Amino acid sequence: MTLALDLDPARLDDAALDLLFREARTVNRFTDDDVDPAEVMAAYDLAKWGPTAMNISPLRLAVVPRGEARERLGSHMSDGNRAKTLEAPLVVVAAADPAFHQHLDVLAPHREGLAEDLEGKPEQRASMARTNALLQIGYLVMALRARGLQVGPMGGFDAAGLDADLFAESGWTSLLVLNIGREVAPGGTHPRAPRLDATDAVTVL
Ligand SMILES: Cc1cc2nc3c(=O)[nH]c(=O)nc-3n(C[C@H](O)[C@H](O)[C@H](O)COP(=O)(O)O)c2cc1C
Repeated sequence: MTLALDLDPARLDDAALDLLFREARTVNRFTDDDVDPAEVMAAYDLAKWGPTAMNISPLRLAVVPRGEARERLGSHMSDGNRAKTLEAPLVVVAAADPAFHQHLDVLAPHREGLAEDLEGKPEQRASMARTNALLQIGYLVMALRARGLQVGPMGGFDAAGLDADLFAESGWTSLLVLNIGREVAPGGTHPRAPRLDATDAVTVL
């Protein structure tokens, strides 16, 4: 059911809302056009403004151009995801940093003593990092789309193997792999599946 809304118009116009939401798709195959890693930095610089608990900002990104690192990443992808990860113009591993508390003097100067308190609580830090980095990944997907890029997020990979291979030094924990391209190649998306309507997903208490 479509809601008949009698509301003020959205602050973004329909073209922007189509780009971000209604026409944005999960992409499995891209045209060969290159994507510069600087595009990911620019998207991060937008996404970083999205809210996180106490401003802990635990999202970390590893950009993986084509080459040796991409081959290594591919070896950790599930069989169904490997080829598209190897072929994508650019790939990003989105991860959480459980050592986020080391930046709290800058990020949360109003929370004096928090970093010291969290130092001895690695499980709490890991949980906070995961929850808030997942939120930030959502912001990142929208930021990439806002910059006109196409995204294919994937959770199907061996996270423990990837972390041991690529993040042994940093201690980051991988959450999602994002294939990124400039345009959708023919047949590069699945048929669009419907979503739940607001009438099914939203209740006013
Ligand atoms: C957290 C997450 C994990 C996903 N994992 C995979 C995956 O491992 N392989 C895959 O092909 N697609 C994966 N997808 C893609 C989803 O199936 C896709 O985004 C969803 O069906 C919506 O498709 P649409 O954006 O084209 O409407 C994942 C998406 C998300 C957000």
